[in-house]
Order: sequence, then structure tokens, then C-alpha cells
Amino acid sequence: MGWNSWNAFSCGVTEDDVRDAADLLVDTGLRDIGYEYLVVDDCWMEAELDEDGRLEPNSEDFPSGIEALADYVHEKGLKFGIYSSAGDVTCQGYAASLGHERAHAEQFADWGVDYLKYDNCGDHRGRDAISRYAAMGQALVAVDRDIVYSVCEWGQNQPWQWGRNVGAHLWRTTGDIVVRWSTDSDEFGLGIVDIIDQMNDRDIAHQNGPGGWNDPDMLQVGNGPESGQAQHEEADVDRELTEAEERTHFSFWCLFSAPLMAGNDLAEMDDATREILTNEAAIAINQDPLGIQGTRDGAVENKEVWSKRLAGDECALILFNRGEHTAEIATTVETVDVPVDAERYRVSDVWSDDEWTTSGSITATVGPHDVAMFRVSPE
Ligand code: GAL
Repeated sequence: MGWNSWNAFSCGVTEDDVRDAADLLVDTGLRDIGYEYLVVDDCWMEAELDEDGRLEPNSEDFPSGIEALADYVHEKGLKFGIYSSAGDVTCQGYAASLGHERAHAEQFADWGVDYLKYDNCGDHRGRDAISRYAAMGQALVAVDRDIVYSVCEWGQNQPWQWGRNVGAHLWRTTGDIVVRWSTDSDEFGLGIVDIIDQMNDRDIAHQNGPGGWNDPDMLQVGNGPESGQAQHEEADVDRELTEAEERTHFSFWCLFSAPLMAGNDLAEMDDATREILTNEAAIAINQDPLGIQGTRDGAVENKEVWSKRLAGDECALILFNRGEHTAEIATTVETVDVPVDAERYRVSDVWSDDEWTTSGSITATVGPHDVAMFRVSPE
């Protein structure tokens, strides 16, 4: 769990934004609820490597340097992350790390970096993904510091199959998330429901678990048309998510046991966004020690049932209304991922705190693009 600068600030990020984000992670209570890693995405570096092939912080936007920034973040009780790319330049055209892995990993360790997001942009110099990502993975384990390794290869070469082998702790499964419910195939980025579908269709749940996580990208909860990342899209698209869609977004990322990297401007966070990002019942499902990626148990028209097994023979359940009209969605314990031998089950509503018991059937009225999410426990 953490926060990343890209979705809110895009390429405009400065060290002041990062320090503000560190302060706000503490002041808003997000740090204490688990959002621990503060990651600076693309554009923190100069356009060229220095004459020794080393990365240099952008002198205009990061004048104090990365080590001072990492110190500031650490003093707030947070971990500090940074970004580079397995090509000759980053996605925004800044200097990157292909061929300089050892030197750059040493720089990261010296600066106090705890997390590296490693992107797939720039010229690959004819090298395949596994060899490029393995080179940085080996460089990171060779340095004298624990650094979480986040592979951002967009799921193009099935990183769920080799991520662990190159030392990665998480790997992007899919293209860039945008602030939309869905996108057309000829548009930039993926909407929330597109990613939910790809996570299911790729049949990768069995690759997910402690130490190696499928990463469906960072959260767009709390973002809108003005958010930095949205500037990379066509201007005339509708980039709002409804509150229901944001709830659905967060619920599925929790059901998937996905990394939860908030991506909103914390200074502008309203109560609705804060309530979603800090829902402790949902986060407990996300952080369940089994780390299972929930899957779809059934779908009838727009009504879908998804679940994942939790530790202690409990289960997390989502009733998802994909349609445009309010619908009643029903399931039973026989359908979802929970043992069927109990006489009664306690059902706790993640979003309303309601709680009741049932001998097996579970039903909810769900608004358009919304979910009902429950923890189901045999009694
Ligand atoms: C993309 C990546 C995004 C962001 C961006 C920065 O490739 O998927 O998450 O890091 O590059 O330019």
C-alpha cells in the first residue's frame, strides 16, 4: 500500500509535491491505515545521464536531490520509492537505466530508496523483456538495501509467469488505468471495468500471492478530468467516475489482493474519497494473509458474483451490477468460495457496516456500476 505521484501530478511533479504528499499521508491518517510507500513516478530525472552514466535529479523540479527527499519521507515514517525504465529513456523521454542497472541500483541504495517502479519505455536495444527486467532484478539484490521491485511491463509478455524469477515483488498485468469506467480499444488507457475484465480473462489468479503480486495499476479514486494523468488522453472524453464506480474500483482491487497505490491529490481529497480509501473492512480483505486473487463465480446478464477465500475459512464476496439500472443480485454459499458445511453464516457489509446471519442465501439491491461487498464467515 502506498501513494504514487503519476495519476495526480503526471510529469509536473516537483519535490514540493512529494513533501506535501508525505505530510498529507500522515495528516489524513492514510499512513496509519497502511499506505506506507510514497513513490515518485516519471520525470524526476534529467533528460540525459551524467558523464559517468549516472542518473541525475532534475535540477529545476528536484533541486534538493533525491537523498534529501528520501530522508524527509523516512522522517515521516514512510518508505520512499522511485521510477526508471528498462529502455534508453522513460515514457516521458527522460534518462533511464537499460545498460546501467548496477550503477543505478547503487545510486538508489545510496539515496535510501525502498521501492523501484521499472517501466518498459525507450529503445530496448534488441533485448527481450525477461533479460531487461532480470538485469535490474539482479542489480537490486546485489546492493546492500532491501528494495521492492515493481515491474511495469503492462502485461505484454506475461510477467506473471517470470516476475518472481527476475526478483520482482509485483508486476503490472495491464495497460495504463485512466479515470473512466471503460474505454474503446482505439483509445488510450483502460477504464475500471476493462481492467476488472482483463484480470479475470487472463486467468492469472493462481500466479498471485505473498511475495509476488499481480498489479492492475494504481488507484484513480478521487481523480477527475483535472488530474495530471488525464492530460495524456484526448480532451473530449468524459473522465469522471461516479462515487459508485469509485467504490467498485476499490472493492475489486481489494478482492484481487492487488497493490493499493493511491493516486489522488491528497491536498484536494474530499470526504467521499477518504471514506473509500480508508475503508478498514475492505482493506482487511485486501491484506488478508492468504493473498488470493478473487475470481468470478457467475454472471447472468449484468449481474455478477465474485469471491475470494480468506484466512480462517471466511470469504469476501462482491455482488456487481455492471448494468445501467438498479438490480437485485442473489447468490448462495454453494456458489462462492466458502466451506458449505456450516449451518449459519454471518454476513458483514463492507460498505454499510450492516451485519446479519443466513443459512445460505445472500441477496442485495445494487445500483448501476455499483457493488455490494461482504465478508462471509461460517458460524
Ligand atoms: C507508463 C506507466 C504509468 C506511468 C507512465 C509514466 O508506462 O504505465 O504507470 O509510470 O508510464 O510516464
